[in-house]
Amino acid sequence: MDIRALESEATDALEKIHDAQALDAWHTMYLGRKSRLNAFMRSIGELSLSEKKTIAPIAQAVKKQLEEAYTRREKYIQKSNEGAAFDVTLPPLYPAYGRLHPLTRVERSIRSIFSSMNFSVVEGPELETEKYNFDSLHIPKNHPARDMQDTLWVSTEKGRLMRTHTSPMQVRHMEKHLPPVRIIVPGRVFRNEATDASHEINFYQFEGLMVGEGVTLAHLKGVLTAFFERFFERPMEMRFRPSYFPFTEPSVEIDIKAENGTWLEVMGGGMVHPEVLEGVGYNPQAVSGFAFGGGLDRFAMIKYGIPDIRLFYGADMRFNNQF
Ligand code: DAH
Repeated sequence: MDIRALESEATDALEKIHDAQALDAWHTMYLGRKSRLNAFMRSIGELSLSEKKTIAPIAQAVKKQLEEAYTRREKYIQKSNEGAAFDVTLPPLYPAYGRLHPLTRVERSIRSIFSSMNFSVVEGPELETEKYNFDSLHIPKNHPARDMQDTLWVSTEKGRLMRTHTSPMQVRHMEKHLPPVRIIVPGRVFRNEATDASHEINFYQFEGLMVGEGVTLAHLKGVLTAFFERFFERPMEMRFRPSYFPFTEPSVEIDIKAENGTWLEVMGGGMVHPEVLEGVGYNPQAVSGFAFGGGLDRFAMIKYGIPDIRLFYGADMRFNNQF
């Protein structure tokens, strides 16, 4: 038999094989016990010694070649099967990106807008004293304004409480700084309230304060108009409505006009009460100031169309990852 012809037949056949089953069959056919090669090798024993010496090494070499070719093919098929297991129609595995919480985004945006208008960003303590949270803001002991804020008291005897608003920072800051003052105070506040779609036991506010010579309510309107336009990225109609806060005179509620035309109350504000200025050692004859305070959550809800304040605190990544 022509052993070289057998070799090339086997090699050609091997190259056409693409799966393990066919490879097995090939092995049985060309290298198995009943293969022509095996039969041929057994027949060598019947040859003369000189014939054996020339033919046996050739047969051995062919066998070795085919075995090696078989192993190579086996590896090749394994490799290409790994490739076949890769389904190109599957959606890609996205890396797990971290996202900023919508309230963080809003806070950063507020910080940067006011910073660009030369306001400094300052923060105050969340655990406050009755003195700063109420007294210094002229919210009298038995005044209904105190009932307006359902307070989380830490110690009623020591007058310790979780701040109910960021306004105490107005006083803390003015006590330590001479006018002119221009600050914004973002921060967490606490109220002892039942929660619903628009009330949370803790939420965020940002306070604004500008004190100097000749500061008027018109400046408040100008600053807020600029802020609203930049924050909502469109010109915003706004209006002041007369209101009452013990620490401002006059006091206003500040509304903005939503896209559907309804007015939304977003802030309280006014001219800092002369007694508050006096309380920190400022001369109300020489300087005046405006103040405002708004709910950061509310701004986020309006900006992103979020219907329920509690979503901010649910730690649901399906919610958080949308921003
Ligand atoms: N502190 C008030 C509140 O939490 C909001 C407020 C009203 C802040 C008038 C101010 C202001 O600075 O001038 O409801």
